[in-house]
Amino acid sequence: MLTAKSFNLSTKCMTPIPTQTTTPLIKSSKLKEGQSKGFIVGGTNLFIVRHQGKVVAYLNSCPHRKIPLQCLPNQFLDFDKQFIRCSNHAALFTIEHGLCISGPCNHQSLTRVKVEEYDDQIYCTIPPA
Ligand code: FES
Repeated sequence: MLTAKSFNLSTKCMTPIPTQTTTPLIKSSKLKEGQSKGFIVGGTNLFIVRHQGKVVAYLNSCPHRKIPLQCLPNQFLDFDKQFIRCSNHAALFTIEHGLCISGPCNHQSLTRVKVEEYDDQIYCTIPPA
């Protein structure tokens, strides 16, 4: 394995690069089809949605006002559970891509968060700040 020492470099001038952290959020069985749940992970406000069997995650921050989307806990979807909905302005975002299709931030997108599901557990990976 190559290290700074391999190249006779001083490690004193090297700035440590923050690593991404993968965090378990919830058991897979606790997020049913059409459900959404919010979390705060290391100060990052995010939410997950199960849609068509898959789990997606976004930062809980509207692209135009940078405020949380929901007024009630874990209520990120519209009545039909086909879109993510801003409860402040009724803006609609596609679940698959987080793209706003109706509302004051039309054509802007939510910020995606990396999410994985394995061993009956859902994990997110928050990029370093
Ligand atoms: S805060 Fe941006 S659509 Fe509601």
